[in-house]
Amino acid sequence: MKGLVLAGGTATRLFPLTIVTNKHLLPIYDRPMIYYPIATLASMGIREVMVIVGGKSVGDVVELLADGEHFGLDLTYRYQRGAMGIAHAIGLARDFVGDDAFCCVLGDNVLLGPPLAETAREFEAGPCGAGTLLYEVADPQRFGVAELDVAGNVVNFEEKPAQPKSNLIPIGVYFLRPSAFAIVDQLVPSGRGELEITDLLNHYLPGNLFARRFEGLWTDAGTVTSLIRAAELSEQESRAGRMTAPPTRPKA
Ligand code: G1P
Repeated sequence: MKGLVLAGGTATRLFPLTIVTNKHLLPIYDRPMIYYPIATLASMGIREVMVIVGGKSVGDVVELLADGEHFGLDLTYRYQRGAMGIAHAIGLARDFVGDDAFCCVLGDNVLLGPPLAETAREFEAGPCGAGTLLYEVADPQRFGVAELDVAGNVVNFEEKPAQPKSNLIPIGVYFLRPSAFAIVDQLVPSGRGELEITDLLNHYLPGNLFARRFEGLWTDAGTVTSLIRAAELSEQESRAGRMTAPPTRPKA
């Protein structure tokens, strides 16, 4: 499988922290934000990763991650203009992905927990067209929200609903195949002018979506409150000895 990290966008929810720098460079406890999604992909055993960059200080993101050797990865980059959404950014990876299944992780998602190699393998070998990881949160209206049938299967996702139908959200980890690109081409921008990931996932519902609960700790870090929460969780996990030291970039 290949990997994608989405690190574009304008990060207005974090202004003034992100007026002159890139959100994904902000510290979360002892490392830059983007180290977390990179580690998530590495935990799946993925080696070839494209980072989609955009917004401020893109050169600093590339300088920090370099060729990815210090993460045991082989990194490549693509530039996303504007903030046209997660599904749009995924569409930029078409040539990189080729014929492989791939996993896309949002650059502000912090996953602290068990490695995901088995989950990735299960998706790759399985029949489903797409997949995601689900997590229970207290404030689902900030996210995509799952609607479940009586058997507990996901039947639909709604993006940032005022009246959430559950507390279960698809976190920013998406398992996809190259067939997703034809669907991305058909998506129309939402009210906020973005190609929404939930619209892409809904194309596989009901019945063709791989969904697993994430068993560790999760938060996004795209708002001031969640950025603090991410740091607190990381510190807690680090003190419990469940995190390795952040890799240091080798000399250029
Ligand atoms: C995005 C997705 C949303 C998902 C969330 C996870 O929201 O649109 O469906 O639940 O990431 O972090 P955003 O951070 O762009 O508001």
